[in-house]
Amino acid sequence: MFLEKYIINGPTRLTGSVTISGAKNAALGILPAVLLTDETCIIENVPDISDVAIMLQILTDMGASVRLLDKSTYEINASGILVSDAPKDIARKMRASYYFLGALLGRFSEAKVPMPGGCDLGVRPIDQHIKGFESLGAKVSIENGGIIEARADKLLGNQIYLDTVSVGATINIILAAVKAEGLTIIENAAKEPHIVDLANFLNSMGADIMGAGTDVIKIRGVSYLHGTTYSIIPDQIEAGTFMAAAVATRGRILIKNVTPKHLEPITAKLLKMGVTVEEYDDSILVSCDGEIGRTNIKTFPHPGFPTDMQPQIAAVLCLANGTSIITEGVWENRFRYVDELRRMGANISVDGKVAVIEGIESFHAAPSRQPTFEQVLL
Ligand code: UD1
Repeated sequence: MFLEKYIINGPTRLTGSVTISGAKNAALGILPAVLLTDETCIIENVPDISDVAIMLQILTDMGASVRLLDKSTYEINASGILVSDAPKDIARKMRASYYFLGALLGRFSEAKVPMPGGCDLGVRPIDQHIKGFESLGAKVSIENGGIIEARADKLLGNQIYLDTVSVGATINIILAAVKAEGLTIIENAAKEPHIVDLANFLNSMGADIMGAGTDVIKIRGVSYLHGTTYSIIPDQIEAGTFMAAAVATRGRILIKNVTPKHLEPITAKLLKMGVTVEEYDDSILVSCDGEIGRTNIKTFPHPGFPTDMQPQIAAVLCLANGTSIITEGVWENRFRYVDELRRMGANISVDGKVAVIEGIESFHAAPSRQPTFEQVLL
């Protein structure tokens, strides 16, 4: 829910239960992938967020029929899409529109999509995406006005080593390779749960993708993908955020519709901090009524501690009993939120990619300008 202003009266001990939505980052890979079939796809557990609305708008503008069946289930048929360029104005609103490069290339052997800009996290190159497309035989150029164009006579499978572990490049290469001729091998691939979810979705359409979730993904190209019904995994970061909220407020929250395995990097740290975490089949109970133990955290690609949980865990560590050190291992600039925590009394010093947090007794109320649009921009 986007409001212009939030007024939060504390302190509150958060108790109760919450149901987690489908994963944003999985949805952003899966929705463009419906382009790869002319048949109808039913996608369940789609989160109700602005990025998804933009993705659906792009699909609709290009000619797909998109129908909401219930509050989180969409029926999409992309057979009406006959153009290989994404609508510029709307695609520019969201970085993840670059997944249309891989999807359109996979369908038409050509694609034109606006170039994604940088953001609060610093410079965000897409050289590994381009390297992947070129390895599959595409020519990639950047036109005036920042439109990326990729074009191939025919996409041919190839071996691609990613110089850096990139979620986006791994997804984009999978999308382009799934219908390419022959075998594509992505080495040093990202292993995030949403990569596995995209591969499972495509395999349910008849693709032949093996190894998703490991650092070597093998994609044997198929000539045809059919429609499917598929349910998106729960959002790891939304769940992790409620886990952090339970701890920071010394509360007790039953978090439902989660995959506990995806939360393990977060759970492991909370356990080390003395928090009680009980795992069930598809829910997790987090409670904290005593001291929060200090700890050090370094963010890494999955299965490391997720960078998208770094601000939330920093807020928790502000309330821990001692000094904690957070090292950002993925993005060059991810401590922009610290000034806002300082207004509330946090004792944090930042040097480059390292933040040193001295625990305090409690936060105090303060106006916040909320400049941290990191989650929105990602
Ligand atoms: C995705 C997530 C984002 C998360 C990030 C890391 C989506 C929509 N967003 O972003 O929430 O924070 O993974 O878990 O899924 N890099 C290059 N060249 C490239 C691509 C990336 O150098 O071609 C670098 C980036 O600058 C960054 C690192 O690789 O330092 C990881 O980026 P990447 O995994 O690609 O992040 P995104 O897919 O953009």
